[in-house]
Amino acid sequence: MENIFNCNLVELQKIKNRAGNLSVVENSGSMPFDIKRVYYIYDVPGGSDRGGHAHKELEQYVIAVSGAFDIQLDDGKNKKTVRLDRPYLALHIKKGIWRETRNFTSGAICMVIASHKYDYSDYIHDYDNFIKYRKNE
Ligand code: TYD
Repeated sequence: MENIFNCNLVELQKIKNRAGNLSVVENSGSMPFDIKRVYYIYDVPGGSDRGGHAHKELEQYVIAVSGAFDIQLDDGKNKKTVRLDRPYLALHIKKGIWRETRNFTSGAICMVIASHKYDYSDYIHDYDNFIKYRKNE
């Protein structure tokens, strides 16, 4: 089972130019999973939080492409909070990790690059069920 200490910040390539910077995420040798889906969360009221959940199989790269927010990671034993506030840093959230996204700055955009298509049955929405799931693994 994965733990929070394996969920690290990955520095994405940054191509600098007088007209701005460009970062790339693509399926390549350095990508730890095959990209199946990209979605993004926006228009989140400043200061607000988004409820927690875990995934059984899905892995993600989470990027603050604009603004900032905190992600609290929990593997059932340990917790850590990572502040995402740079568009060239991706937090790799591995499978089986409970996450809560907090403290969105107003106008923040949270982009998620995911290893699977959307699948409701891959979610664990209830924290007590998550703890049971981790114990049975
Ligand atoms: P969810 O993953 O629970 O986001 P958060 O925990 O940040 O609120 O998704 C919120 C809602 O959006 C939920 O009803 C499922 C739906 N959804 C889709 O329909 N397709 C998707 O690709 C995703 C990620 C969510």
